[in-house]
Amino acid sequence: MARSCRLPRPLVTVHSALALLCLFLGILKIDTLSLNLKNSHNATCLYAQWQMNFTIEYETVNHGLKKVTIQVPSNASYNGSDCGTDGSLPQIQVQFGSGFFWNVNFNRETSAYSIGNISFSYDTSDNNTFPDAKEKVNTAFEVNSVEVPLDEIFRCHSMRTIKEGNVTHNYWDILVQAFIQNDTISKKEFVCNKDSPASTVSTTTLTTEPVVPSKPIPEERPIPGTYSVKNGSNVCLLATMGLQLNITKNKVTSLLNINPNVTDFGGVCLKQTAILWLNDSIIDNLEFLFAIKNGNRFYLKGVNVSLSLVNSSDFTAGKNNLSYWDAPIGSSYMCNKEDTIAVSDTFQINTFDLRVQPFNVMEGKYSTAQECFADSDLNFLIPIAVGVALGFLIILVFISYIIGRRKSHTGYQSV
Ligand SMILES: *[C@@H]1O[C@H](CO)[C@@H](O)[C@H](O)[C@H]1NC(C)=O
Ligand SMILES: *[C@@H]1O[C@H](CO)[C@@H](O)[C@H](O)[C@H]1NC(C)=O
Ligand SMILES: *[C@@H]1O[C@H](CO)[C@@H](O)[C@H](O)[C@H]1NC(C)=O
Ligand SMILES: *[C@@H]1O[C@H](CO)[C@@H](O)[C@H](O)[C@H]1NC(C)=O
Ligand SMILES: *[C@@H]1O[C@H](CO)[C@@H](O)[C@H](O)[C@H]1NC(C)=O
Ligand SMILES: *[C@@H]1O[C@H](CO)[C@@H](O)[C@H](O)[C@H]1NC(C)=O
Ligand SMILES: *[C@@H]1O[C@H](CO)[C@@H](O)[C@H](O)[C@H]1NC(C)=O
Ligand SMILES: *[C@@H]1O[C@H](CO)[C@@H](O)[C@H](O)[C@H]1NC(C)=O
Ligand SMILES: *[C@@H]1O[C@H](CO)[C@@H](O)[C@H](O)[C@H]1NC(C)=O
Repeated sequence: MARSCRLPRPLVTVHSALALLCLFLGILKIDTLSLNLKNSHNATCLYAQWQMNFTIEYETVNHGLKKVTIQVPSNASYNGSDCGTDGSLPQIQVQFGSGFFWNVNFNRETSAYSIGNISFSYDTSDNNTFPDAKEKVNTAFEVNSVEVPLDEIFRCHSMRTIKEGNVTHNYWDILVQAFIQNDTISKKEFVCNKDSPASTVSTTTLTTEPVVPSKPIPEERPIPGTYSVKNGSNVCLLATMGLQLNITKNKVTSLLNINPNVTDFGGVCLKQTAILWLNDSIIDNLEFLFAIKNGNRFYLKGVNVSLSLVNSSDFTAGKNNLSYWDAPIGSSYMCNKEDTIAVSDTFQINTFDLRVQPFNVMEGKYSTAQECFADSDLNFLIPIAVGVALGFLIILVFISYIIGRRKSHTGYQSV
């Protein structure tokens, strides 16, 4: 039953009667976006209705920063929205104006689904919308997600504001349900915190205040995934890691956590090198190249990434002369603390709960681990060393105090 929603090529029916009416009357500028996706059995599999706008701050040729607020027009297109197939997640895609593109993903978990991984991109080369603009294509990601129990519809009338780089997203009047069962939109609402009666009071008081600073988005730790590569039937490369990509594009920095549940992987193992690649709906390819040095140690030599946001290969970065994750062959490299691989000025990878073994994997298991410095006991020596130094300092001060006292004492006596 659940699978019926995952069939390819769903039929799209967009409810735009209200939107058309508004356009005809020419009164209302803000339109409700609305979408009812059906699968190939003609059963509703994804339903959404919401409003959104965006405030973009962009750099102009010679007048500094300018702000513009973008409303979604009624003739926005929903091409590319679908209920997901075995290889892809359900998603809603909205295109409008000249080069605006918005995307949200839905991810199914055991008893809930998440709504998140929003990406929004725009092209400031449109003279009417962005007069004087200096920069061209730009993308903002929002990786935080909302968790909704399966078979419940998410509702949030309150405004949700997210600031990502140069873009402020506003979302309100949201009603959405993914992974709809039995062609029935749920009557059970999962209401956001802001809508709940307890917080309505505070929202009304807040509206009288001029500026409500938006809360900083908490940084989520990426979930570790285990990736392996086989040579014939034997595992030859093992990697367990939580990965967070730090991408800077047109001066906007975005963090993108890799969700191992929806990430494909593969690779090759050769005598002197080994490659692990990952991909998902946004990442076309993320490659880790391992090499051997001095015949007895391995290390991470190269990293390559290409992301597809609007057009293919929207963002690429790579380097082939790195030197990370160095450990003896026959062992694995481990780092539980957060660590960073600086690939380029525009691309970094933050790793969490890392363990890798790119060569000589025996029976599909990790060999003994060599831990990174951040994890190692040497780290405990630093506070000890500082403590010892402080202790010496105190003793020194004490001694000089005693000596000083004695001197003044004897001096006093001699008078
Ligand atoms: C789906 O249902 C609509 C009406 O509910 C009908 O007009 C259409 O022919 C159906 N399509 C298929 C493929 O069954
Ligand atoms: C949408 O409407 C605007 C005018 O409101 C028009 O310029 C544009 O071409 C339309 N886009 C599409 C895809 O129909
Ligand atoms: C996608 O790429 C094509 C050609 O490379 C370009 O004409 C188009 O404007 C791009 N679209 C966006 C939204 O960047
Ligand atoms: C943008 O608009 C200005 C004035 O309206 C015009 O002079 C200029 O050629 C336009 N630029 C582009 C790239 O269309
Ligand atoms: C869908 O239908 C099946 C059988 O008809 C039923 O067991 C199941 O509870 C239904 N699920 C929902 C969410 O209504
Ligand atoms: C992301 O990268 C930028 C620039 O390289 C850096 O300033 C920032 O601290 C990084 N953020 C995280 C969370 O790693
Ligand atoms: C990934 O899947 C596991 C079990 O299959 C589940 O517990 C976990 O919540 C999922 N995580 C995400 C982010 O989808
Ligand atoms: C990066 O990608 C290019 C082109 O796809 C490839 O030739 C190169 O070997 C890759 N480098 C690494 C380190 O994976
Ligand atoms: C790595 O290669 C880049 C050019 O691709 C070079 O600028 C850089 O200095 C090299 N780094 C090291 C450590 O060799």
